[in-house]
Amino acid sequence: MNEKKIITSKQKPKTATILPSEESKKVANTMWGGRFKDSPDVLMENINASIDFDQRLYIQDITASIAHCKMLVDQKILDTSAGKSIINGLKEIKNEIDKGSFEFKKSLEDIHLNIEGRLAEKIGDDAGRLHTARSRNDQVATDFKLWVRDAIDTLDEELKNFQTAILDQAEKNAGTIMPGFTHLQAAQPITVGHHLLAYVEMLGRDRGRLRDARARLNESPLGSAALAGTSFPINREQTARELGFDRPSANSMDAVSDRDFALEFLSTASITALHLSRLGEEIVIWCSAQFDFARLSDAFSTGSSIMPQKRNPDGAELVRGKSGRIIASLINLITVIKGLPMAYSKDLQEDKEPVFEAADSLSISIAVMTAMLKDMEFNVQNLKKAAESGFTTATDLADWMVRVLNIPFRKAHNIAGQMVSIAEEKGCRLDELSLAEMKAVEPKFTNDVFSVLGVEESVTSRNSFGGTAPQNVKNAIKKARERFL
Ligand code: ARG
Repeated sequence: MNEKKIITSKQKPKTATILPSEESKKVANTMWGGRFKDSPDVLMENINASIDFDQRLYIQDITASIAHCKMLVDQKILDTSAGKSIINGLKEIKNEIDKGSFEFKKSLEDIHLNIEGRLAEKIGDDAGRLHTARSRNDQVATDFKLWVRDAIDTLDEELKNFQTAILDQAEKNAGTIMPGFTHLQAAQPITVGHHLLAYVEMLGRDRGRLRDARARLNESPLGSAALAGTSFPINREQTARELGFDRPSANSMDAVSDRDFALEFLSTASITALHLSRLGEEIVIWCSAQFDFARLSDAFSTGSSIMPQKRNPDGAELVRGKSGRIIASLINLITVIKGLPMAYSKDLQEDKEPVFEAADSLSISIAVMTAMLKDMEFNVQNLKKAAESGFTTATDLADWMVRVLNIPFRKAHNIAGQMVSIAEEKGCRLDELSLAEMKAVEPKFTNDVFSVLGVEESVTSRNSFGGTAPQNVKNAIKKARERFL
């Protein structure tokens, strides 16, 4: 067992010794420059500083510092009065940053040292006691995990709203008929509701992946210190609990160098971005004059500065385009981490920007898609007309032969193919062929065949579980609301 080492708070000097004054800056970095004679080259300062982007971690950094400080006091590693002044100082700093009055300094590298530097300005030397039994390595891993965990929770909520918007549209269009495509060729009639529900499933899996990532992420690195743990009698269970983690991480070296949670977040974000991009692509197609399946509201269409007739779906295109950034962020961080020896290396500082970039891009993409879809109008008549062209009930015709005439499916397929070819030559739909013309191909045909050739009959008949029939869609919407909302 470790003997408890007690650091007592001395009298507070007015100016802290680690305060980064201009004078001391010229000599060496005030936070770690004890063994240095010279200050860092300005180039070194530029490449080393992360404050421009990691200031986004300030709430997490202060929250984790307060948890750490409370634990140090409870463990009698730090005396109560120093603990109090540290915690008060940190709370004041949070207010300053909230208000925008905090001055971020590049010379102090990152958010951790900026906050500690400011704490020293405010409370003096006791500020230097906060870093007892921790390192920036476990500190940044903890902060970043807390940030990613918040981002997961926000995204989950945003995806849920998106699912709600899709479900509402699906409900409105449960019986609206459109052509279903394979190879972007009219395949079989489907319902718009059914098509939209496909995206509700995709987003449901995305949310599941976020949940999985969150569960695996939720171990606290705090207390792993630089890499090997600490000789102070800390209580990692306490800080883990205080910060909402399920438990402390089991291995200090893993904890300070693990960024799996960021990679999992980025992989999930990439898959979600693919889903949004596919929907973006469909909206672009649907809103083209050639398809004319749907119309975006004025609020989500843009005009052309030269072609007055244009209503461009820029929002959908930008969402499709943003997927590039999000996927690039995953490739970025995967590449950074490949080949890093244990434990911490400064390469890991490059972990934040791709995650912020992906989270921001995904968040605005979801918001735009949600709003766009909410007031998108489907062109019901045009969709039906499109569903009726392209011989989309040819499968129904073959199925009818199997069911009613007991013809093996392969043969029925061939007969239906011959009928499609006749209709194509005549320039008519399948249901516009006469019974005589059909009998010429297969004498067993009866008038009953016309009961399966309409697109309405076709979609209504596809009532197998997970199929497109309007009644199925209505049931599926009800179940989806229970499953996801
Ligand atoms: N700004 C650093 C980062 O984001 C914090 C950790 C620095 N650790 C160190 N050993 N220099 O990774």
